[in-house]
Amino acid sequence: MRKAILDILTHAQSPVSGEELSKKLGVSRVAVWKHIQTLKKLGYGIESNSLGYRLLNRPDLLLPEELGDLGIKVYHFQELPSTMDVARKLAQKGETALVIAETQTHGKGRLGRNWHSDKGGIYFSLILRPHVYPASAHLLCLMTAICVAKAIRHLYGLKAKLKWPNDVLIGGKKVCGILAEMEAEMDMVKYINLGVGINANNNISYYANTAVSLKELLSKEVNRKALLIEVLNQIKYHLGQPEEKLTQLWTQLSDTLGKKVRVIAPRQIFEGEAISLDTDGALIVKTAQGIKKVVAGDCIHLR
Ligand code: BTN
Repeated sequence: MRKAILDILTHAQSPVSGEELSKKLGVSRVAVWKHIQTLKKLGYGIESNSLGYRLLNRPDLLLPEELGDLGIKVYHFQELPSTMDVARKLAQKGETALVIAETQTHGKGRLGRNWHSDKGGIYFSLILRPHVYPASAHLLCLMTAICVAKAIRHLYGLKAKLKWPNDVLIGGKKVCGILAEMEAEMDMVKYINLGVGINANNNISYYANTAVSLKELLSKEVNRKALLIEVLNQIKYHLGQPEEKLTQLWTQLSDTLGKKVRVIAPRQIFEGEAISLDTDGALIVKTAQGIKKVVAGDCIHLR
């Protein structure tokens, strides 16, 4: 209903009366008034005078009303400990949804790290139920990194590149991190929650050596709604792509391949040259001891 009211007000040339809104939407004038109050509380600038309601401005929030029809249920929060926790609960209840938070108090990074989530960034978890084997889930994270890099390239012309397994870098500094949580049986993924954090307009000064924001790179704030929509559209498109296509795209956008890397895998640490990506998303590294394949872990670019 709120979306319908906003649509009418957005396209109106003159103020729209409560009566007109109630007729168009088939609800009482009191109901219209209540929705208008909620919209005002959410941050919409709505002027009301004797002629009716007029939309003056929209809040810079990733509200469902602002994102258009994404074909998926959207949960929006001003603040959460972590979108991953909410997404997990929803996924366990059988939902497929997008969970967005404007800020997170306990944002989670990979390998037990924290993810600073100040206002101005983009923080979301997307619940997916892909028909893939658990072993292929890793590729979905790589796919998400491809999607974010492509969205950034498309919207801002910045040379976003990928660091294995799923960081997005610009000029060698991290602009986006991706975390995945999954529940699976031996031969079937039940759900996979993709958690994406993008340094859009947020302050990342405490990580200035290793991270960068789009605002900093472009010297102006970016339209977070447009970026989020583009990333989600890219995900929708790439979800149907075959594994070979995804590894090919990742290879094209890679900043890791050809570099000397230190790999920190669960049971080993080694150095070598990153030479290729396997079809399952594993990194192939040429070391002094021979070729090694690493499926999960972290990688540091040495040069
Ligand atoms: C990393 O590079 O370490 C992964 C960072 C992932 C951060 C995102 S922000 C949205 C979602 N919720 C979280 O708590 N973490 C992920």
